[in-house]
Amino acid sequence: MCGIVGYVGNKEAYPIIIDGLKKLEYRGYDSSGVALLHDHSIQLFKKKGRVSALEETVVGEKLTATIGIGHTRWATHGAPSDRNAHPHYSNSKSIAMIHNGIIENYSQLKAELITKGYIFHSDTDSEVLLNFIEDIKINNNSTLEEAVRIALKRVTGAYVILLIDIDLPDTIIAARKGSPLVIGIGDNEHFLGSDASPMLAYTKDVVYINDYELAIITSNELILKNIGNERVTPFIQRLDLNLSQIEKGGYEHFMLKEIFEQPQTINDSFRGRLDVSAHSITLSGLDTVLTKLDQAQRIVIVGCGTSWHAGLLAEYIIEELCRINVEVEYASEFRYRNPIITDKDFIIAVSQSGETADTLVALEKAKGKGATIFGVVNVVGSSIARLADAGMYTHAGPEIGVASTKAFTAQVVALILFALKVANHKRTITDERYKQLIEQLSEVPTMVEWIFATQLEKIKHIAYKYANAKDFLYLGRGYNFPIALEGALKLKEISYIHAEGYPAAEMKHGPIALVDDTLPIVFVATKDSYHEKIVSNMQEVKAREGRVIAVISVGDELTKDIADDYIEVPYADEIISPLLSTIPLQLLSYYIGVSKGLNVDMPRNLAKSVTVE
Ligand code: G6P
Repeated sequence: MCGIVGYVGNKEAYPIIIDGLKKLEYRGYDSSGVALLHDHSIQLFKKKGRVSALEETVVGEKLTATIGIGHTRWATHGAPSDRNAHPHYSNSKSIAMIHNGIIENYSQLKAELITKGYIFHSDTDSEVLLNFIEDIKINNNSTLEEAVRIALKRVTGAYVILLIDIDLPDTIIAARKGSPLVIGIGDNEHFLGSDASPMLAYTKDVVYINDYELAIITSNELILKNIGNERVTPFIQRLDLNLSQIEKGGYEHFMLKEIFEQPQTINDSFRGRLDVSAHSITLSGLDTVLTKLDQAQRIVIVGCGTSWHAGLLAEYIIEELCRINVEVEYASEFRYRNPIITDKDFIIAVSQSGETADTLVALEKAKGKGATIFGVVNVVGSSIARLADAGMYTHAGPEIGVASTKAFTAQVVALILFALKVANHKRTITDERYKQLIEQLSEVPTMVEWIFATQLEKIKHIAYKYANAKDFLYLGRGYNFPIALEGALKLKEISYIHAEGYPAAEMKHGPIALVDDTLPIVFVATKDSYHEKIVSNMQEVKAREGRVIAVISVGDELTKDIADDYIEVPYADEIISPLLSTIPLQLLSYYIGVSKGLNVDMPRNLAKSVTVE
């Protein structure tokens, strides 16, 4: 996720900004940059790669400015590259800006600016916003502050922006909506950051800027205004935090932070795509290959690990909603077994990192045979994203915990949007169901919040109760079968307890032999068309003295009575429900791992991105 840093004061800005960018490295990034304002001119440096690469580009430069802005970029629009890195210059080169967030209506603004003669030097939405601000400043003959205010009223999306302007030699202008911004108050100096980590070495007095606020910052003054140009009194707080607490946002582990980020990341994957009031879904990547999909005889989904589970769930959803034949393949098997692939195949590649070697080679093979490749990838500009003919990014932000959590739900959201869009296009879904699913999907972040608010203590209790078990079985049917597999994988990864996921009805063909009073069996048993069947499976386990932990829909009294322990999730359509039932299973694994004193962020032997066979 992008990181922003700013400084205005009486010290040299560059070392403070570079140090601040290093403090934000934990957020994940692919490029970085800095702009310094000195004597009515701007020095701007930016570079793909680590902050150390940026430092190499400034060797030998005279950097005496006492005001500047810096950025670490996590690509969303435009691949990681020097040109897409921030800061950006406005067309006149008199303003430099950094941006954290997504401008949803950037293509419309860009088209307007191009007709006015503006030239773009990057593929970013950020450069569009900057030139939009410059255009207002020039045409309305307004100050930068006014131009920012006017521009932001027309922008939809999320942002924190920091601007410097050669006409304002001692001022940074900043604004926020939806992305974080903290201003540190020093002695005749101010620090800006995405969080407090860049400023902690200098001050503990900070102001958290709210949405729709605009700040005009000089070394000795912080003026805060709302978007309506009214002054707001800054609320100064004294921090009582250390650095590692900030990096993890106050959570003990990245995994827990990422689990709790899901209401936000799910919203981020809707952003610019899902318009609930118009019941419309915009997937520009899909539009470019829709004809190929129309001609395709089948869809093949390829992935590994958690991404394969998202693919398996997508098979159920796409077949149901779109009536297209779908096959799901482990990339590692697919690449070696000489599969029959033709130019009539539409391949969906699911990958968080976009770098998994098995997936990449499988796709190269399929592409070589003429298949169309559609990527569902988290990391922008990654190898799989570049190899794909088209695709959609999952916008989960960087995932640091090795066990995938928020990236999984973002993949599932992306694949549901894909299925809904295709089903509507092919008219394989009724208008009523299409609208109902869109509306429910938009409520998922709130439903996930509900799970956190009401079920957390119960999940912890269950985790501690069963933490010493030697084996676990996870059972689910239909849409919840891939969730059972993902739940078992999460437990293995984090707690080193052997866990197996199974389709519940298959239990009687083998695993039932394992059932005794020491075996915890997690049933993913939310209310869906398979519900009665899975309750019967639960009864079969109870009859053999097995221990049942059930994930159920809220208020399902009958199932509560059968289970030894239960966790409730809000009721949702069976297509949407897996997004909810997976959350308690992530938390269960997390708390079992923690109770055993294990390193849940970096489990032994596992790698976040497996770039070897
Ligand atoms: C590794 C990770 C898993 C991940 C899998 C696939 O095994 O530990 O969490 O699901 O790779 O990675 P990808 O980046 O392709 O989704």
